Amino acid sequence: MGFSYLMPNYARLPVKFVRGEGVYLYDDRGREYIDLISGIGVNSLGYNHPKLTKAICDQARELIHISNLFEVPYQEELAQKLVETSFGAEGGKVFFCNSGAEANEALIKLIRKYWRDRGEDRYEIITFRGSFHGRTYGSLSATGQPKLHEGFEPMLEGFRYAEFNNIESVKNLINDKTAAVLLEVIQGEGGVNPADGDFIEELYNLTREAGILFAIDEVQTGNGRTGRYWGFQHYGVVPDLFSTAKGLGGGVPVGALVAKNEVAEHFTPGSHGSTFGGNPLAMRAGLVVYGELESGLLNHVQRVGEYFKSALESLDKGRVKGKGLMLGLELEKPCKELVLKGLEKGLVFNCTAQRVLRFLPPLVITESEIDRAVEVLGEIL
Ligand SMILES: Cc1ncc(COP(=O)(O)O)c(C=O)c1O
Repeated sequence: MGFSYLMPNYARLPVKFVRGEGVYLYDDRGREYIDLISGIGVNSLGYNHPKLTKAICDQARELIHISNLFEVPYQEELAQKLVETSFGAEGGKVFFCNSGAEANEALIKLIRKYWRDRGEDRYEIITFRGSFHGRTYGSLSATGQPKLHEGFEPMLEGFRYAEFNNIESVKNLINDKTAAVLLEVIQGEGGVNPADGDFIEELYNLTREAGILFAIDEVQTGNGRTGRYWGFQHYGVVPDLFSTAKGLGGGVPVGALVAKNEVAEHFTPGSHGSTFGGNPLAMRAGLVVYGELESGLLNHVQRVGEYFKSALESLDKGRVKGKGLMLGLELEKPCKELVLKGLEKGLVFNCTAQRVLRFLPPLVITESEIDRAVEVLGEIL
């Protein structure tokens, strides 16, 4: 690529997409691709979804942004969906922002505020090696990957990293400064690594015994991606608070922090905020996504997720990991080159943690589209 006015922080792939329809993307030469990454787990309803497109156009004519100086149309409605699908009758409250990193930033601040307000000097958050929580200083400090910290030190104080799926390593880090544990129940960027059931149960019990907060990053696993509304629902535990973003707006940037009432109340007026957070355009988009999940899409994800997983297993090329439509295929060798081969053959997917092919297709993908994609994948592998 020649001269660019853009900063060189992205190593971009050699394709220029200009349009999408359903699970298909089209490049500037009119070539068709099956999209198995959906803008990194964002475009949950695929491209040009009639209801989503209509809601966005309608809302653009009414009000795109008004700021949180005022009551914002549709915030209550979407917040209700997030709370009802997670905490149910117990209830909870939501803070809206614009991205996953911002949701985690809010989560970290709320954890600290919760303990400060109670007069306790607890500020350390235990996170995990291989995790990914974002690129802002708080969320990056929470991220347990030294290579992402490199050159940006010093990190924010107060993060300790335990080994994923190793309860002893967590126990060893708990002390009188510990405020919370924060984790992804399936590490996404870290290589599509699901937590073990026993580990999550023990971790949850450990937080109850220690009297600390149990926080989950549902940025990638949330909003139906794994076949449940929230990833933690596969494990029979409920966190005290969780962050989300990505698929929530079906492509419109939006993030959220959801917390139980007794935690949420510590975000008192003026303590935290966002100019764009929870704007009516994003809220309308989120409501369409939730409307679709409720009217059959969530069940669809469970069904096609199993189907996709079996199809990947039948290729017999490596270990298949993940849940629902958050799947990984762990290979013996680096997979970066395969992404380019995929593009040549009209298939879009991603390679993470060097050897894991990652699949986060639009949630609306069908069995026959999966058949087509897996056939091409078989050829590439
Ligand atoms: C689990 C998790 N948390 C946080 C983030 C950061 O989200 P964003 O890129 O929207 O800031 C990501 C992004 O990949 C993620 O996968």
